[in-house]
Amino acid sequence: MDIQAHRKDEHYIIAEKLYQENSLNDLSEIQLNFDSLPELGINDIDISTKLADKSISAPFFINAMTGGSPETGKLNRRLAKVAHENDLALATGSQSVALANEDAAQSFKIARETDLDGIMIANLGASHGIENALKAIKMTDAQILEIHLNPAQELVMPEGDRSFYWVKQLKEVVNKSPVPVIVKEVGMGLSPKTLAKLKKIGVKYVDIAGYGGTNFITIENQRRHRKEYSFLTDSGLSTAKSLLAAQSFKNDFSITASGGIRNALDIVKCLALGADNVGISGLFLHTLIKQGDEGLDQLVKDLKMQIAKIMLLLGCRDVAEVQNEKVLLSNKLLVYKQQL
Ligand code: FNR
Repeated sequence: MDIQAHRKDEHYIIAEKLYQENSLNDLSEIQLNFDSLPELGINDIDISTKLADKSISAPFFINAMTGGSPETGKLNRRLAKVAHENDLALATGSQSVALANEDAAQSFKIARETDLDGIMIANLGASHGIENALKAIKMTDAQILEIHLNPAQELVMPEGDRSFYWVKQLKEVVNKSPVPVIVKEVGMGLSPKTLAKLKKIGVKYVDIAGYGGTNFITIENQRRHRKEYSFLTDSGLSTAKSLLAAQSFKNDFSITASGGIRNALDIVKCLALGADNVGISGLFLHTLIKQGDEGLDQLVKDLKMQIAKIMLLLGCRDVAEVQNEKVLLSNKLLVYKQQL
C-alpha cells in the first residue's frame, strides 16, 4: 500500500484511539434561555435548514473523514448507508489520494453507489486548482465541494507540506466551481484573520471546524518518532470561540459549525451562536466503530428528536428562531469576545 493510503488508515485508527467523550470545544461555557411556557407542541417544530445553498431536513451532517484505502472505503460505504437511510448529507475525506489512482477512487465512489440520491460533499486540500476540483466533484457526483485549510496539520505531519501559497488556487476554485464551495479547517478553528481573507476572495460558505474534538496536531504528532509537537496540542481556536469570532461576518458567510460535537444540545448551541448547520465526524466514527451501523442509525434518529425537544424548550419553532436566541456566555467567553 502506498504511503498516502496507509496514512488514511492511520488517521482513522489514531482518531478513534484518542476519542474523548468530553470535548474541549467550550460549548459548555454557553447557556441557553429555556422557556417553561413555550406554547408549542413537538409537531410545531421544524428542524430543517440549509447547507451551502441546499435544503437539508435536519441541522447536521456527516463531515469529512475518510477514503483512499480498502478499509476506509468500507467505512465510507457504511457511513453512506446511514446517510441514505436518514436523509443526511455526507462528506468524504480528502480525495487528493484518488485523483490519479483508480483503486483509491473506488473507496470514494462507493459512497455515491450506496447513497444514490443524497447530498454528497467532495473534499480536497487548498493546493488544488479547478481541474482537480472538477475531478473530485465528478468522482462522487457531488453537489457541494469542501476545501480544507490545514497548515498546522501539514507542518506536524512527518511527510506533510512545508509551504502554503494557496490563495490563487482557492480563488479559482471558488469562482469556477459548478457547485457551492465550503472552505473549512480540520479542527484548529478559522480565526478572524482567515475569515477576512476568505471574504475578500468571494467565499460564501465556511466551516469553522474548531478545536475541541478531533485534533490533528495530536494525531500527526503520534505518527512522529519523537512526538515533539505536543506543545501545539491546545493552540487551536475552540468551536465556541470560532463561532463568536464569525458573528461579525454573519452577512458574509453561511456558517457551518464543527469540532467536538457530542450531543443535541451542542448542535442547538451552535445554531444559537449563528451557525446554519453542524458537521459531525469523530462522534459518528466512534459510534460506528463501537456500536456498529445500527448504533449509528439510532444515534442519528435520537439526535433529530432531541434537537426538536430542545427547540421546543427554547420556544423556537424553527432554526431561524434559534439563531435569534440570546445566549449567555461564561466569563471566559465574554473576555474573549471583548478582545475580538
Ligand atoms: C477528518 N477531518 C477531515 N477534514 C477534511 O476536510 N478532510 C479530511 O480528509 C479529513 N479527514 C479526517 C479523518 C478523520 C478520521 C477525522 C475524524 C476527521 C476533519 C473533520 O472533517 C472535522 O473538521 C474535524 O474532525 C472536527 O470535527 P469532529 O471530529 O471533532 O467532530
